[in-house]
Amino acid sequence: MANRHFGKAGDVWKHLMLCEVLAALEPTHYAESHAGSGAYDLVHDDERHYGVGHFLEVSSVIATLGASAYAHALHRFTSTGRARYPGSALQAMTVLGDTSEYLFCDVDPVSADDLRHWGRNLELSRCRVVERDGPTAVAEWLDTCAGSRRVVHIDPFDPFAAQPGGLSAVQLAAHVTESGSALVYWYGFDSPGEQAWALAEIAQRTSTPLTCLDVLVTDETGQGTNGDLGAGTTPGTGFGVVLANVGEEVIASCDRLGRDLIRTYGGKRLPDGQHGRLRFTRRQQV
Ligand SMILES: C[S@@+](CC[C@H](N)C(=O)[O-])C[C@H]1O[C@@H](n2cnc3c(N)ncnc32)[C@H](O)[C@@H]1O
Repeated sequence: MANRHFGKAGDVWKHLMLCEVLAALEPTHYAESHAGSGAYDLVHDDERHYGVGHFLEVSSVIATLGASAYAHALHRFTSTGRARYPGSALQAMTVLGDTSEYLFCDVDPVSADDLRHWGRNLELSRCRVVERDGPTAVAEWLDTCAGSRRVVHIDPFDPFAAQPGGLSAVQLAAHVTESGSALVYWYGFDSPGEQAWALAEIAQRTSTPLTCLDVLVTDETGQGTNGDLGAGTTPGTGFGVVLANVGEEVIASCDRLGRDLIRTYGGKRLPDGQHGRLRFTRRQQV
């Protein structure tokens, strides 16, 4: 199954950070364990209006957001006759072009075919798409390119599911950080008590320093109990990224971009029409 949440606020957050990491680190090797499809036809509903629609609007007036690698990648696909939302893999292909070697994994054959299509379309000479368990394939891949400049993006639906004998997504995240590769790990949650949960889970499994850039959706009083990530961006839901091995400068620029984006949401109504807020928190695990 491809990414049914494409273009929502949590997706925008993930992709803003991911593109920033890629543009700064310029990896020679890039892998995604849960790649999704290449691109999705843009739909105009309340969630997308709050997510990608809002970003397109504010990035035309906030210089830092407009200059971001994410804005550049996004515009390439939204400003054409058939507006599409590029998934993380297509954004990476767009930011890095043919300077990197790619491994994209997805168990969904439709997503895999679409990724192959975009790899050909962009004339990438080293783009491999595999239809198999991503954590297993990425763990093997890490051994084949040890010592090179590697970035791994992990973005699962189920962070704890594992094939027999294989790694779960959070286990893979720890393995990636231990290998010295840069990590971008996306997570979501349904209640305020789960804020930054992925930071704690990954930190239990590695001694590598981690940074977490987390967003909690609240009502106008700063509370939220109606979290349902599957349904939408409601008070009590949240999302974030855990970063490792990306360097202080990259963390600082992701932090700046994140704060700039969060500020643009001041006074904006949530997708369901009620008043609400986005609360940004940065945490470190050293
Ligand atoms: C959240 S979506 C990925 C979205 C994408 N990374 C993006 O940001 O545009 C998760 C994807 O993981 C795929 N998936 C689920 N289990 C998997 C597994 N064990 N190995 C590889 N892919 C898997 C699903 O088919 C789905 O396309």
